[in-house]
Amino acid sequence: MEDQATKLRKLIEDKAGQSHGWIEGSSSSDSKAAPEDRKTRVIAITSGKGGVGKTNLTVNLAIALGMEGKRVLVIDADLGMANVDVVLGSLSKHHLLNLLDEDVELSDVLIHGPYGVNYISGGSGIEKAQEFTMAERQRLMQKLSGCGQLADIILVDTGAGLGKNVMDFILAADEVLLVTTPEPTALTDAYAVMKAYSMYASNKNIRLVVNRVYDEGESRDVVAKLQKTSQKFLNMPIECAGYIYEDRNVMGSVRKQKPFLAAKPDTLASKCVRAMANTIIYGGNMTVKQGWKGFLRQIFNFSRK
Ligand SMILES: Nc1ncnc2c1ncn2[C@@H]1O[C@H](COP(=O)(O)OP(=O)(O)OP(=O)(O)O)[C@@H](O)[C@H]1O
Ligand SMILES: [Mg+2]
Repeated sequence: MEDQATKLRKLIEDKAGQSHGWIEGSSSSDSKAAPEDRKTRVIAITSGKGGVGKTNLTVNLAIALGMEGKRVLVIDADLGMANVDVVLGSLSKHHLLNLLDEDVELSDVLIHGPYGVNYISGGSGIEKAQEFTMAERQRLMQKLSGCGQLADIILVDTGAGLGKNVMDFILAADEVLLVTTPEPTALTDAYAVMKAYSMYASNKNIRLVVNRVYDEGESRDVVAKLQKTSQKFLNMPIECAGYIYEDRNVMGSVRKQKPFLAAKPDTLASKCVRAMANTIIYGGNMTVKQGWKGFLRQIFNFSRK
């Protein structure tokens, strides 16, 4: 069996992500079905309060899932700031909306970033997606639908809070990871997202990630508190996908613009994210309902109820 360091080294060497069948669109270890039959998991990563660690989680989780042989695509849907770029120390020339140009193809906006992280920058303007003309929406949908054949898992890094476009992304994704820290303000804001989600989501699949904890007990307390409130007031079960320790190497790696999983593979935060990747792959709650195409249909307003 390969050890973690070997897997990581392979990923880093494989900057274009080719050994994961990314370019060729071939299948990874557990996706033997023909591309058109396969269903891609779409996971939105969100939070109530800003700055709780979504982007760091998204990028490092993408690396951890890649180490497990999954083909992962990150969509930076946090409008306004190109955060995924910053955490990766990468730069994207094109963003999603450039696909509106007839001569721009999916391959032009899809960045093969470092550490095997493939991503698309959302760029500003996508919040108006539902106001685009029918032809524009169709063009975007048609070009973007190709992502579904290229990835096993699509991670969508959203902005924080209850803004319309954040909610659109959360409601369109089959799965949601709600990131919080143990701070009371973060918990209150996380609860607000849970409440909105419980009211509007047709298929509810939301899991908590508790970031910046000092020990496992602290995470358990946070989860128990939110589960109790959710059950009592929202009648919605909510599971925990994992927790991440407070770890100074996270800040250090942000400063160096190198994801902590690549910079410090054995630091506590890296171990937690790898454990979470395993829960995400092998744990429950992974039925694909709408997949990537359903996600796009909802975002581009082709399936409003
Ligand atoms: N586990 C951790 N340990 C220590 N510091 C952390 C941890 N997670 C995040 N941080 C710190 O929090 C900062 C914000 O993280 P990040 O940018 O991932 O949050 P975000 O939720 O994406 O923010 P925004 O809402 O602005 O998009 C990081 O730059 C880092 O300094
Ligand atoms: Mg962010």
